[in-house]
Amino acid sequence: MNAFRDRRVVLGVSGGIAAYKAVEVCRRLVDAGAFVSTILTEDAHRFIGPVTFSALSSEPVHTSLWDDASPIPHTRLGQNADVIVVAPATARIIAAYATGSSYDLLTATLIATRAPVVICPAMHTEMWEHPAVQHNIAVLRSRGVIVVDPQEGRLAGGDVGAGRLADPDTIVGAVEGVLSGRGRDMEGMNITVTAGGTREPIDAVRVIANRSSGKQGYAIAEEAHKRGASVTLISTVDRPTLPGISLVEVETAAQMLQAVETHAPASHVVVMTAAVADFRPVHTADGKIKKQNGIPEIALEATPDILAALGTAKPEHQVLVGFAAETNDVVENARGKLKRKNLDLIVANDVSAPGVGFGHSTNAVTIISADGSETFVPLADKHSIATAVLDSVVAVRSARRSQ
Ligand code: CTP
Repeated sequence: MNAFRDRRVVLGVSGGIAAYKAVEVCRRLVDAGAFVSTILTEDAHRFIGPVTFSALSSEPVHTSLWDDASPIPHTRLGQNADVIVVAPATARIIAAYATGSSYDLLTATLIATRAPVVICPAMHTEMWEHPAVQHNIAVLRSRGVIVVDPQEGRLAGGDVGAGRLADPDTIVGAVEGVLSGRGRDMEGMNITVTAGGTREPIDAVRVIANRSSGKQGYAIAEEAHKRGASVTLISTVDRPTLPGISLVEVETAAQMLQAVETHAPASHVVVMTAAVADFRPVHTADGKIKKQNGIPEIALEATPDILAALGTAKPEHQVLVGFAAETNDVVENARGKLKRKNLDLIVANDVSAPGVGFGHSTNAVTIISADGSETFVPLADKHSIATAVLDSVVAVRSARRSQ
């Protein structure tokens, strides 16, 4: 389901060097199907021209309380909006919004709306960390405003630190969260996700591998990031992902176990999407095995079962999610794994069905919970499957809280 289709988004752009990134945000919102009205503050004009936004938005850019055909553009924009997003939001805009001060079209619109508001601050580190700015941010959060925190990175003038505008994917993801009704419901959660198939070395050039593409694990990591979680992605594959995700690269089951043992204890949620090899060569030959020495016999041994180890050491607060790739008796086998490995959820897929599992961009799964409930998610792209898995994670956590 497309959360953006025919929804009205007001994009407020205030005066900071990051204003140029708002162009990308605008384009992505329009491409996703939203009707985007852009408000440019007077200071924003110093960084980016209105023509760019008029060309990309769904209607000509709005710049002033006075030059619009409507005598009250702020109420019209505010009333019609499904969501307002301010990117970048300067310290001044944040202060004005927190104190209810209205001095231009953007500040008037923010105060004249009942729509949800997403604020994406961008400023120098000293300004971002100033107690006055942090106080204003806390006030806005307490009123239900969604704040997409700035990232660490290079700032204007060559300085490095916190205050860089969140990347367009994260901002568009936060807007999508609001429009889909989920918001940033994973804010404050640490989640560790594994992705891809492990590769177990036979010699210097050969490995035992499997067909896992890592797509499903990446989709879970990315959807969790959009929902506000702090994400560690432990991966064996070389795929691009969102800049806010912390990536740990591994190759073998042993390396994955070590990385998982480092990150899992502090994680509220661990999702083992990876296809971990069940067997590995007992010895890895030095150099390359040469064929003139005859056909080698490769003795195998079992790899550590990472998920089972996680289940044994599971902290009380943690939600542990496994995957089960099956070809027959899918749900029954998956239920067995859920019990044996002490999981809270297991995502079962019938990898023999068309379009399902390894290498495909689509998947069809049954999500089984330790309390016995089952959710079938028919064939859908892997991001939709990821959304359904995370919905189940959030449901487990809220059921625990209400116990
Ligand atoms: N898994 C793991 N470590 C292993 C093998 C599997 O952590 N050495 C995890 C996978 O990441 C997945 C779950 O266990 O989340 C189930 O994997 P699967 O291969 O379906 O099941 P197995 O337990 O290996 O059982 P079998 O292969 O016999 O079906």
